[in-house]
Amino acid sequence: MSNLWSGRFSKELDSAVNDFNSSLHFDRRMYAQDIAGSVAHAKMLAATGIIPAEDGEKIVQGLLDIKAGLEDGSITLDPSGEDIHMSIEVLLTERIGDAGKRLHTARSRNDQVAVDLRMYLRDALHGIDGQLTGLVAQICKQARANLETVMPGYTHLQRAQPTTYAHAVMAYAEMFLRDKGRLADCLRRMDVMPLGSGAMGGTTYPIDRGMTASLLGFSAVSRNSIDGVSDRDFVVEACAALSLIMMHLSRFSEEIILWCSSEFGFLELDDAYSTGSSIMPQKKNPDIAELVRGKTGRVYGSLVGILTVMKGLPQAYNKDMQEDKEGLFDALDTVAQCLHVFTPMLDTLTVNKQNMLRAAQKGFINATDCADFLTKKGVPFRDAYTASGKLVRYCISCGKTLDELSLDEFRAVHPGFDEGVYPAIDLLACVAGRSVTGGPAPQTVARHIDEVEALIG
Ligand code: ARG
Repeated sequence: MSNLWSGRFSKELDSAVNDFNSSLHFDRRMYAQDIAGSVAHAKMLAATGIIPAEDGEKIVQGLLDIKAGLEDGSITLDPSGEDIHMSIEVLLTERIGDAGKRLHTARSRNDQVAVDLRMYLRDALHGIDGQLTGLVAQICKQARANLETVMPGYTHLQRAQPTTYAHAVMAYAEMFLRDKGRLADCLRRMDVMPLGSGAMGGTTYPIDRGMTASLLGFSAVSRNSIDGVSDRDFVVEACAALSLIMMHLSRFSEEIILWCSSEFGFLELDDAYSTGSSIMPQKKNPDIAELVRGKTGRVYGSLVGILTVMKGLPQAYNKDMQEDKEGLFDALDTVAQCLHVFTPMLDTLTVNKQNMLRAAQKGFINATDCADFLTKKGVPFRDAYTASGKLVRYCISCGKTLDELSLDEFRAVHPGFDEGVYPAIDLLACVAGRSVTGGPAPQTVARHIDEVEALIG
């Protein structure tokens, strides 16, 4: 294909250079946004009298036909094209003749690619936001079914204090809600229409940028043409928000992997969401969770990649910026793919309540409550804490749990203990007593779930 810019050149581009330079194999996925942007631009050019009205109509119809043809396979893109923008323009002129040559009036590929990428990303982020909503809804559903499922809470991966499975998974609901907020922030800041920036210096034509912006669903136009063509902050922000989603998914995955091990035995994955080993017949591996954890690395890679591409770039458009897309697309695809399998994996897993309770009964996770019992009777907390610690040491020496001690054994350590200590260190009571906002008490968590469900509508 000879290039649209070939007028100034006396030779065809070297074919290896053409392959190196071309972005068509990855930016072709923006064909719908490119066509939408061109349709709006052509309508505006016709409305402002910059091009004849009938040319505007021919362009719009020609572009819509190309879109339909690309979608039904009757039109294919010449792989030697430089990018999606020029490929569509060439196709248009081949099909409708001279009118097609008027489309690029008052426009540059620099503002064209900037608007296309914003539109592509806008759609993709809305898709991921919807997937996050589905994940949060699934977490709420699982939490509601496990309000009284007592399990040990951990710090340092050591059993710490009693909690419930509902409380533990609702922590992830909060993380994914913040992720939704970050996507919304990013979408709001990128809601600026750069067409009209031209190559970098604006245009002398009397274009109507407000009209193009409203046709394309943007609420503002960019205020500086240099920034308009060279801002890729929105790509960085999107990759950062996607990285945080992956960070949260990787932590949840790690938890699922641990909790599915025989050492924990808290969860069991559905057979449709786990895999076997080629040599060890007994194995049931949490491959999905491990892959999600592993794919986090490539999304972080996209973030570091775009930050590095943009570092130190002089104004305005530089070809380096063509490198903004593959990492972004890969990050979007990866997050979408992970969420696509993660949510149903969660939906189908089994919660082994008995194993969670058994683990909670060991490890003295009610030792704080045992100390609190004395404190509430007026014993200073530090003394109560020491008494409870002595009881734990005693229990370890004789292989008992706190609730298995006789009242005499309690009183041998501190005279402040009475019969009331037993209900006070009962695990469900320990959980129910933590009714402070944010705590694991079943009623508190139920309210939390109500709030989150109301937020995601
Ligand atoms: N394919 C280019 C990109 O993705 C489009 C813009 C090219 N502009 C230019 N002046 N070469 O960045």
